[in-house]
Amino acid sequence: MKKKLELNIIDKKQIPEVEPERQYYFMDIAKAYVKQLAERKGSPLTFHVTTFGCQMNARDSEKLVGILEHIGYVETETENADFVIYNTCTVRENANNKVYGRLGVLQSYKKKNPHMMIGLCGCMMQEPTVVEKLKESYRFVDLIFGTHNIYKFAELIVTSMESNSMTIDIWKDTDKIVEDLPVERKYSFKSGVNIMFGCNNFCSYCIVPYVRGRERSREPKEIIREIEHLVADGVVEVMLLGQNVNSYGKNLEHPMSFAQLLQEIEKIEGLERIRFMTSHPKDLSDELIEVMKHSKKICKHLHLPLQSGSSRILKIMNRHYDKEHYLELVDKIRTAVPDIALTTDIIVGFPGETEEDFEETMDVVRRVRYDSAFTFIYSKRTGTPAAAMEEQVAEDVVKERFDRLLKEVQRISAEKAGTLTGQTLPVLIEEINEHDASLVTGRLGNNSVVHLPGNADMIGRIFPVRLEECRGFYYVGKVDEA
Ligand code: SAH
Ligand code: SF4
Ligand code: F3S
Repeated sequence: MKKKLELNIIDKKQIPEVEPERQYYFMDIAKAYVKQLAERKGSPLTFHVTTFGCQMNARDSEKLVGILEHIGYVETETENADFVIYNTCTVRENANNKVYGRLGVLQSYKKKNPHMMIGLCGCMMQEPTVVEKLKESYRFVDLIFGTHNIYKFAELIVTSMESNSMTIDIWKDTDKIVEDLPVERKYSFKSGVNIMFGCNNFCSYCIVPYVRGRERSREPKEIIREIEHLVADGVVEVMLLGQNVNSYGKNLEHPMSFAQLLQEIEKIEGLERIRFMTSHPKDLSDELIEVMKHSKKICKHLHLPLQSGSSRILKIMNRHYDKEHYLELVDKIRTAVPDIALTTDIIVGFPGETEEDFEETMDVVRRVRYDSAFTFIYSKRTGTPAAAMEEQVAEDVVKERFDRLLKEVQRISAEKAGTLTGQTLPVLIEEINEHDASLVTGRLGNNSVVHLPGNADMIGRIFPVRLEECRGFYYVGKVDEA
């Protein structure tokens, strides 16, 4: 059992009511505790944040890291640290299983380090059954919180440090967005930017709306302000994040479309590249296609989740588009932006999926010819409408279809790779090559990876690169001096 901490400096009457002031107040207290503990330990306290799931979670983790560093923790590579946090995902069952498996390892570290704190947050924690299980069988976890109150992290750390039992704080939903808290970016030159939170779509297989709450958009002026600060700090590429960016702005006091927001962001001087994720086909407007066509900064890459090619299944999935509409959209986009890279997400084995339904998916894959596709085996999520559907597809049938789909997707990606060979295109250099230190690795606007001779000074900058050769799924090139 960890030792309870208490400071005399807390005058509860002084705790600010408003955010983010309240959190800065708690950061000061946490800082004092961390200092005290580090003195006891004789070295700085270390932390490790492990992220599961999507880019939203990755961005949330940067917020956790920002606060931890602000209060005096030092990041370490290993999970054998003084504070370990798992930012969890629950979109598919295997995401959950991974967390339970790894908690066992954390427990063994904690036995050797009695000061160690273990925190769990993210989407999985929004499920009451998960929290029940943790309370029963994982008593060594110190802090559990959800997706809606992550901004309260500093306050929760203080509560946990002052308590000698498990601290749990989960909210069912929120309409609150707290701005201006510390964030520590993983990359100096690119950053995710939340433009909205939550999801209102309730696709029948998906748990996200239950664990991320109702859709709410950030004010455009807050988004612009954040990006301007990022650019001043060296960022050249932003990834605008939302579960359905195409429905951005509908619930604002002064409604604004996603296309309009993009045009405002485009004006930010110094910003070179704009990406976004994810576009729901049902809300992809002609206005957006028009803006993409004329933009100098929006990358020529669109992730457009298909989920299924069968109109019958799409209807039961509650996706609000059919096969024909999807294919029309793809045509429209390709006409407007001819060399755009298209990627997608596909689910195999949704309840009731027949061989004919699956063949419709294969048909769309062959017609669209995706540059790449994420393929998933349907996972039953308790509480979603699909989980209650009777005709769950047999495991061996799903596996066989999944393998067929994957093969087709990979065959097409391989055929499509290399189409840009011979061209000179801008590449944002991201890192030193993992295998050969004389090379650097970067990305094209369409997200393809490029390796070229270079050095660390090039990281975070954009160079014109001649794409000399395509090997498998990446290009090899050289800076074009001309
Ligand atoms: N908001 C995004 C998707 C977020 S989840 C969108 O609508 O496109 C990322 C992907 O996980 C989804 O596109 C879907 O393909 C997959 N997914 C979601 N729920 C799933 C489930 N129950 N089983 C298998 N895959 C699922
Ligand atoms: Fe899930 Fe659908 Fe919302 Fe995407 S749009 S997060 S798939 S419910
Ligand atoms: Fe997973 Fe939550 Fe993202 S469930 S996919 S981390 S929104």
